[in-house]
Amino acid sequence: MQSALALFALAAVSPLSVSAVPATATASSSSALPSATSNVLGLNELAHAAGKNYFGSAVDNTLPEFTDPTYMSIYLNWDQFGQITPANAMKWMYIEPEPGVFNFTLGNQIADLASDYDYVLRGHNGVWYSELPSWVTSTDWNATGLAYAVQRHVNGIVSQYAGRVYAWDVVNEPLNDNGTYREDVFYDTLGASYISLALETARAADPNAKLYINDYNIEYVGTKSTAMQDLITQLQADDVPIDGVGMESHFIVGEVPTTLVENFQAYEALGLEFAITELDIRMELPATEESYEQQKQDYYTVVNACMQVSACVGVTVWDWTDKYSWIPSSFPGYGDACPWDADYQRKPAYDGIAIAFEGQNITA
Ligand SMILES: *[C@@H]1O[C@H](CO)[C@@H](O)[C@H](O)[C@H]1NC(C)=O
Ligand SMILES: *[C@@H]1O[C@H](CO)[C@@H](O)[C@H](O)[C@H]1NC(C)=O
Ligand SMILES: *[C@@H]1O[C@H](CO)[C@@H](O)[C@H](O)[C@H]1NC(C)=O
Repeated sequence: MQSALALFALAAVSPLSVSAVPATATASSSSALPSATSNVLGLNELAHAAGKNYFGSAVDNTLPEFTDPTYMSIYLNWDQFGQITPANAMKWMYIEPEPGVFNFTLGNQIADLASDYDYVLRGHNGVWYSELPSWVTSTDWNATGLAYAVQRHVNGIVSQYAGRVYAWDVVNEPLNDNGTYREDVFYDTLGASYISLALETARAADPNAKLYINDYNIEYVGTKSTAMQDLITQLQADDVPIDGVGMESHFIVGEVPTTLVENFQAYEALGLEFAITELDIRMELPATEESYEQQKQDYYTVVNACMQVSACVGVTVWDWTDKYSWIPSSFPGYGDACPWDADYQRKPAYDGIAIAFEGQNITA
């Protein structure tokens, strides 16, 4: 309740009255490390100037982000961010916790913020093997019963936000790294038909939303990317609605793939748009001046690859500050993956993004 009230207070502020916190406002505990120098335009302004639709971030309102005034004062600055993805709020376990019983409380906070601040909203996600309520994973489904549950779920969430969502990650992470279909409750019960069922249901629920499949390790040339392209080609041949592919882009400093542009061009050739949907570039801790500089280069490489291919509509980071990043808990020993540090200081990585959107070359 407390958090809902605080959110309301923030959301009630007119967008024009929210001002950016100066880059130097907070003292950094990592003051020995370099910080960003680019200081003219914000990243979303730069993305727009470059012809992209947005630069944005995932936001997790299952964490105390919305009640963190510093977080919100920076995030609600359109110059910097013009797009929002709910990191968790629209996932199945939160939004349909009981069969056919939807709880839109957290999802509506995200969608209302998008409306109030004129942010592009990406819906995330429809059908995914993880973060499912136990009634989905523990039921001994037959095909008819699960197909009904998938349709009810996708129709429920997509129709709730119809007309407000730019793009939905309708199907999330359907493939294994070796290119086969991931064996989960959906595939095991329905085969690959759950993918077309979800996409067709989403199209009927919101004819204007772009319908995406989102996955990782498809950002570069390789077995999994080829399998994703084959899946897209098959859906197109079957007249199943599919508009875009989400390239998650959870990368490691110094190990960003070298075939991003070539791979992105292959998706463009399929007649689809695509987006960088979950970008972060983690490093081994503790960070050093060298790892910060390499991270700047790596962020540049990814955003520059988006710049090279016009079908790339925008870039979303999977949270923008290390304060709330999922990396340290999911990848022990790693962290500092975001363009802003945990004290809200902009890192050299920020400059890497800015330089790429500006169309400039970076000097390593
Ligand atoms: C819906 O979700 C919100 C946010 O998690 C929670 O506070 C509330 O209790 C839920 N409502 C119901 C009826 O379960
Ligand atoms: C399939 O499961 C549903 C419940 O999900 C049940 O009502 C129906 O009888 C089952 N059909 C068959 C053929 O077992
Ligand atoms: C592909 O990967 C999955 C998941 O790791 C595994 O279960 C499956 O056996 C693999 N298939 C082949 C053909 O290697």
